[in-house]
Amino acid sequence: MSEDNPDIAGLRKAGEIIRNGGLVAFPTETVYGLGGNALDPGASKKIYAAKGRPSDNPLIVHIADMEDLYTVARDVPPEAEKLAARYWPGPLTMIFEKTDIVPYETTGGLETVAVRFPVNKIAQGMIRYGGGFVAAPSANISGRPSPTVAERVIEDLGDRIDMIIDGGHTDIGLESTIVDFTGDEPVILRPGFLNRKMLEDVLGTVETDPGITDDNACIRPKAPGMKYKHYAPRAEVTIVEGDADRVREKISSLVHRSILEGRKTGVICTKESRDSYREGDIKVIGTLDDDLTIARNLFEYLREFDDDGCDCVYTESFRTPRLGDAIMNRLIKSAGHKVIQV
Ligand code: TXA
Ligand code: MG
Repeated sequence: MSEDNPDIAGLRKAGEIIRNGGLVAFPTETVYGLGGNALDPGASKKIYAAKGRPSDNPLIVHIADMEDLYTVARDVPPEAEKLAARYWPGPLTMIFEKTDIVPYETTGGLETVAVRFPVNKIAQGMIRYGGGFVAAPSANISGRPSPTVAERVIEDLGDRIDMIIDGGHTDIGLESTIVDFTGDEPVILRPGFLNRKMLEDVLGTVETDPGITDDNACIRPKAPGMKYKHYAPRAEVTIVEGDADRVREKISSLVHRSILEGRKTGVICTKESRDSYREGDIKVIGTLDDDLTIARNLFEYLREFDDDGCDCVYTESFRTPRLGDAIMNRLIKSAGHKVIQV
C-alpha cells in the first residue's frame, strides 16, 4: 500500500492482529519494523522468538500521538520535549524511565523505555488501530542487515509472523537516532538520520556513548543492542579507508587477488569512483554529493551480495558530513570491524 493512499481496511486488520497479541511487519521512514502490542508481555516474547533475538536487548515502543508518551515514560525532561517538538514525528528514539504499564519483557528487563513516534503514515495508522503502543525492532533475523523493502521481511520472517504490510522502499534506510535522557546530559546511543549537529541545534551540547565508536572499549554499551553482531551479510566485508586514490588502488588489488584465489568478490563504490574498478561484482551504492542515496541502499546492497553468492566484499568508506556517522556505524559493524587504513 502507498503512504499517500493507505488501505484503511488493511490497517484495521493489522491493528486487530496487534490487539489480539499477534505480530505485523510494517514500513516506517527508517526501516521495516516487526510490531506487537508493547503492553502485552506475550507479544514481546513472540517478537524475540521470531527474530531469534537475545531477550536482554530491549524493544522500541512506537506511538502515534505525542500525549501517549506520558503513558509509557516518566520524568520526561523539558529538553526531550523540545527535541520532540522539532523532530517528532520522525526518525528519533528517546530513552526515559518507564512507567509500570510497560512490561519488562518489552524493555529487556530495564527500568527504562525507548520511545519513537514515526512519521510514516502507514506506521501511524497501524499503531493507532493497534491500540497506540507498538513494540517494534527492525524486521530482520537477529544479526542480519535491517530490511528496507518488504521482500526482505518475507525472506527473513515470512513464515513466522501474521501479516506483512508492503509500503515499498523505506525513505531513509538506516534506523532512528537514539538519544538517552535518563542521565545528567543527553547522550547519543545510536547515530541516525538526525545527526549531532541537528540535535545540538536544539539541545546545545550532546554527549556520545563511547560504546558507539569503539565496541571493544571496556564500557558496557548503554544500548544493549550495540554489543551484538549486527547488519552482517554472509559475505565477509572489509572496509578500505584513506586517501581516495590509494583506496581505489588497494581495493582493486585486493579484489584481483581474491578472484585469483577463487572467491566470488564484491565491490561497493560510488558514482565518483566507479570507473576505477575493472573486476568483481561492482555495485554503485550512491553518490558522495547526496549521502542519502548511500544510506538508502546500504542494507539492501549488503543483502544483494548474498543473493549473488559473494564470499567477500571490499568497500570504500563514506565519512560524509551529514550522514557519515550513521552510515559508518552500520558499515563497520557489518564488517565486524575489519578496516584497512591506506
Ligand atoms: O528506526 C528504528 O528505530 C527501527 C524502526 C522499526 O522503528 N527500530 C529499530 O529497533 O531499529 P531495533 O530493535 O532494531 O533497535 C533498537 C535499539 C537496540 O540497540 C536496543 O538495544 C536499543 O534500541 N534500546 C531499546 N530500548 C532501550 C533502552 N531502554 N535503553 C537503551 N537502549 C535501548
Ligand atoms: Mg535492529
